[in-house]
Amino acid sequence: MTDAPDPARHPGTDLVAVDVPARRPSSGDEEAGALVDGVALVTLTRPCALNALSFALLTDLARIVEALDADPEVRVIVITGAGMRAFAAGADIAELAEQTPDSLAASEGLRGWERVAAARTPTIAAVRGYALGGGCELAMACDLLVAGSDAVFGQPEIKLGIIPGGGGTQRLTRAIGAARAMELILTGRPIHADEAARLGLATKVVPAEETLAAALDLAAEIAALPVGAVRAAKAAVRAVAELPLTAGIQLEGTLFRERFGTADQVEGMRAFLEKRSPRWEGRPFHPAPPHPPRPRKERPG
Ligand code: CAA
Repeated sequence: MTDAPDPARHPGTDLVAVDVPARRPSSGDEEAGALVDGVALVTLTRPCALNALSFALLTDLARIVEALDADPEVRVIVITGAGMRAFAAGADIAELAEQTPDSLAASEGLRGWERVAAARTPTIAAVRGYALGGGCELAMACDLLVAGSDAVFGQPEIKLGIIPGGGGTQRLTRAIGAARAMELILTGRPIHADEAARLGLATKVVPAEETLAAALDLAAEIAALPVGAVRAAKAAVRAVAELPLTAGIQLEGTLFRERFGTADQVEGMRAFLEKRSPRWEGRPFHPAPPHPPRPRKERPG
């Protein structure tokens, strides 16, 4: 049984709501309302401004993600936007219009994207509607991106006389390659969900109304796996953006070796060899249905 949510443990704010564990959206199916063990849901809640990322919202978001990252009960974090029109339509342009180079250099809010990206816990963006500018950058700061068929991505900052400032020039280029990123950033052209998936920006595209449920399904799949291995795998894949190949291979080797001797490695391999479900450390045991019998090897003669 998954424990009932305790709102006092991870209080949200009026700009960012938190549900731990996440609750499945009410979509009329039999799973609606069910709690998703090990998964936190973070919702940007400024729908009247298409969830524009004010500095206050970014600061709340970063603080909340850091608190969730430090909670051993949270194994995956899903980030979404309130309402159906937007994940986030960018940094708050009214607020940005008042800024100077010095005020921006001193702004804590502007560090929000990097603080989210620094989480060791896997993060999934569940994107419906607009994910523009800082909203696209927030989605890209997550590890996985589930896009509804109505999602629209883009870096339109050039049309405001600025450039992306939440990591967009770097992450979009790494996600889709220099030629395509250059075109999207220099023109500000938005792209729809299917093109985002084709370019490698989105992990998958699902019917719009199923976006959050699909992101929670993906989160639940990852949350069911051994947390140390999941975090090590995330760290190794993330390092691709930072390290040359040889250093990346070395890091992978170190993280690989460090798994050995952990309770989950011993248990995972023993369970495989004993043909039973593993009991991951610190997790209640939910026996999986037995594996279908493996086909017998034919012996000659
Ligand atoms: N900042 C502040 N407010 C925003 C906003 C933003 N990024 N995006 C939308 N809003 C507000 C609008 O001002 C409007 O508020 P009011 O109802 O009070 O007028 C409300 O949200 C609804 O928006 P629209 O009426 O514009 O809705 P639309 O359907 O006609 O257009 C849109 C939707 C195409 C997304 C359009 O709102 C838009 O172009 N938004 C701005 C997108 C953008 O340029 N983002 C980049 C911001 S800069 C940035 O992000 C820098 C960085 O990298 C850090």
